[in-house]
Amino acid sequence: MANLQLRFLLVSLFTSIVGEAQYVMQDAALMHYIDRRFQSLENRLEKCNQDIMDYVEEFRDFSKRIISRLEGLNVYKTEFKNEVEHLLTRVERAQRDIDYFASGRDSDACVEVDEDLVEQQQIEEAEERRKIKLVLNASCDNMLTGIKSLKIVKKTGDAHGSWMKDPGKNHPKIYFLNRSKNNVILEFANIRAFMESSNMLATRRVILPTHWQGTGHVIYKGFLFYHRYGSLNEIIKYNIHKRNITDRMLLPGAGQMPAYELFPTTKIDLAIDEQGLWAIHAEPDIGGNLVITKINHHTMAVEYTWDTSCNSKNAEAAFMVCKTLYVVYNTPNGGTSRIECVYNVLDALNTYEVPVLHFPKRYGSHSMMHYNPREKEVFAWGDGSQIIYKLETNQKV
Ligand SMILES: *[C@@H]1O[C@H](CO)[C@@H](O)[C@H](O)[C@H]1NC(C)=O
Ligand SMILES: *[C@@H]1O[C@H](CO)[C@@H](O)[C@H](O)[C@H]1NC(C)=O
Ligand SMILES: *[C@@H]1O[C@H](CO)[C@@H](O)[C@H](O)[C@H]1NC(C)=O
Repeated sequence: MANLQLRFLLVSLFTSIVGEAQYVMQDAALMHYIDRRFQSLENRLEKCNQDIMDYVEEFRDFSKRIISRLEGLNVYKTEFKNEVEHLLTRVERAQRDIDYFASGRDSDACVEVDEDLVEQQQIEEAEERRKIKLVLNASCDNMLTGIKSLKIVKKTGDAHGSWMKDPGKNHPKIYFLNRSKNNVILEFANIRAFMESSNMLATRRVILPTHWQGTGHVIYKGFLFYHRYGSLNEIIKYNIHKRNITDRMLLPGAGQMPAYELFPTTKIDLAIDEQGLWAIHAEPDIGGNLVITKINHHTMAVEYTWDTSCNSKNAEAAFMVCKTLYVVYNTPNGGTSRIECVYNVLDALNTYEVPVLHFPKRYGSHSMMHYNPREKEVFAWGDGSQIIYKLETNQKV
């Protein structure tokens, strides 16, 4: 009996010793593991910036506490089970945090920290794009890949001005708007009549109630849209057929500086593409970068505005093709015009993704360049010549 009792005592003592030894071994392994993970965490966090240092401090503190608790396990035998459970949940939590950091690779570790923020941003951007797509619903995914040819249609000899067709109408009329401050529109029946008219005898002359400023005006669906001379940023919508002003609007932020440094009389450049009416201007607050605005041509309301990464310095003109801004640069003494900055309102396509596109070599600069989405051509005015550039486009991949 005593023997049996002694045996039982020995067995239970043995079990308890072995059990404790097992726990101690487990604890040691756990400690080693935690130490290793924290070391890895610390190594990675070293690469991160100051605001994460608080986080590191918290982990170091926790690391110290957990280690001292594990060391004291033999002392607090009664609390043993609870304590271990408690520690394990804490370690688990720490583990998740550590894994979170560890999942980032090297310098990406810092970026990983903002994963939630990035995700949120992506959701917002997707929502933004969805909204923009609602505004810009015409299907259009061409991008400019080259300038195919140049055709000098006429040489009127006047230094600056603008000329165009109405891309919103299915008629061949040519509109000629001489000079950068004027109020007379000359209308020609077609391009042949325009070319052959030696004394610029127009089919029709339309006198505007107010002068225009610059050469940025456009004609779209029978209306002339122009920056009113003498105003900071007023855009007039004029019915060419009825000969009266239909509407007007202010373009906030515009008019403070030239849209293009090399042709300073144009403060607001208007453009037409497959999507309708746009305005292009530069703002001093953003270092002279160009801002593009989508305008609803019916209501004359601003639908959307984008600050682009394209600068007005050394720019001479710009035009829109398929929701994308193409900015043409030159040198102050007039060299080869080239597209060096491209901004797509949906993808914010960067310049380095698009090769520099050179216009066919001729000397001089442009005082206006307008894309015509119906003809897929650019109407330009350069050194007294009225020019048409044919474009090469590709389906966007
Ligand atoms: C977009 O769709 C609406 C309605 O379907 C239409 O009125 C509008 O002209 C379209 N806009 C463009 C730019 O195609
Ligand atoms: C254009 O304006 C210039 C003055 O800047 C004038 O000499 C020329 O005759 C005008 N051309 C036409 C076609 O009106
Ligand atoms: C423009 O003229 C037409 C007819 O000539 C007239 O019906 C219309 O009310 C005028 N619009 C404005 C804004 O004056």
